[in-house]
Amino acid sequence: MNVTIGKEVERAAELLLAGKLVAIPTETVYGLAANALNENAVRDIFIAKGRPSNNPLIIHVSDVSEVQKYAVDVPDAAMKLMERFCPGPLTIVLPKKSFLSDVVTGGRNTVAIRIPAHNMALELLRMTKLPLAAPSANRSGYISPTKAEHVWQSLDREIGYILDGGECITGIESTIVGFEGDVPVIYRKGVITPEDISNTIGNVIEYSGSSIIAPGMLTAHYSPVTPMVLVESIADAAEQYKHKSFGVITYNNYDHQISIDRQMILCSGSDYVAAAKNLYAAMHAMDKKGYDLIIAKKFPDEGIGRALNDRLQRASIAVH
Ligand code: TXA
Ligand code: MG
Repeated sequence: MNVTIGKEVERAAELLLAGKLVAIPTETVYGLAANALNENAVRDIFIAKGRPSNNPLIIHVSDVSEVQKYAVDVPDAAMKLMERFCPGPLTIVLPKKSFLSDVVTGGRNTVAIRIPAHNMALELLRMTKLPLAAPSANRSGYISPTKAEHVWQSLDREIGYILDGGECITGIESTIVGFEGDVPVIYRKGVITPEDISNTIGNVIEYSGSSIIAPGMLTAHYSPVTPMVLVESIADAAEQYKHKSFGVITYNNYDHQISIDRQMILCSGSDYVAAAKNLYAAMHAMDKKGYDLIIAKKFPDEGIGRALNDRLQRASIAVH
């Protein structure tokens, strides 16, 4: 793709104000941003990603006080969550104000809002004074970008600029929380866990309905081009797939039966915060190696491990 990558926040601001798309760093993953108040610019996001128009976007703002500009009837519990975790990897779904375009919200009467914890993103939001609509800056269905170069590799349509803010420190997408009455419902898991949320505002429900509220909940998502399987035991999978060429993504230990140059380790011990930071970069790197298969080891199903398994599960397919 023909696009400039740089660190000039002012240039990014000018382009956004002129209705162009700019990839921006956040603490979770890079976003493909446009002025949320400019319908044509927002439409361009869907075109650049190849994203279905009914999949709503998150709008990014610089401060909790901005939320009331775009949302109505904000429950106390939502305010408490935002005071505790924002700026940070948390998105809140709230009833929207009617002036907000259906193009942003995919025709819904709710809007997803978050405050990114990244200095360059916050500077950009303050400089433009705009709400920025931004999905992850990858083509629809592919792995989210955690480095500027991932954006460049994943999108094939021209965009205005890639603002390079270094490697994303959180590494997986924000936790998405909505409200049914006053009860918080988690629509997408992230590094802010159900325990973190219930410790702040009490009972929380994990969404288990059959209708897809957040297309991040679609089963196939975040996928490398190379088929990937999620397994309990690397040794068993290595035996099962011995006739294929494969690479291994595992979280803290090399398997000594498999050559080390075919393996990527995500963290040491049970440092799942580090594993989240490294996960997508490992998937991007493995996807370039030309293997028949990527074998990924399942995390223990607790805390951040659950969010990581969620992403790995969606990236995986049934391979026979
Ligand atoms: O960490 C993140 O959230 C990143 C960075 C760039 O902010 N953004 C991100 O955006 O992951 P995206 O578009 O890749 O995922 C947003 C998810 C989608 O699954 C979308 O369906 C859901 O949020 N969503 C957006 N608006 C919603 C709404 N009103 N109700 C329910 N889900 C919504
Ligand atoms: Mg995405």
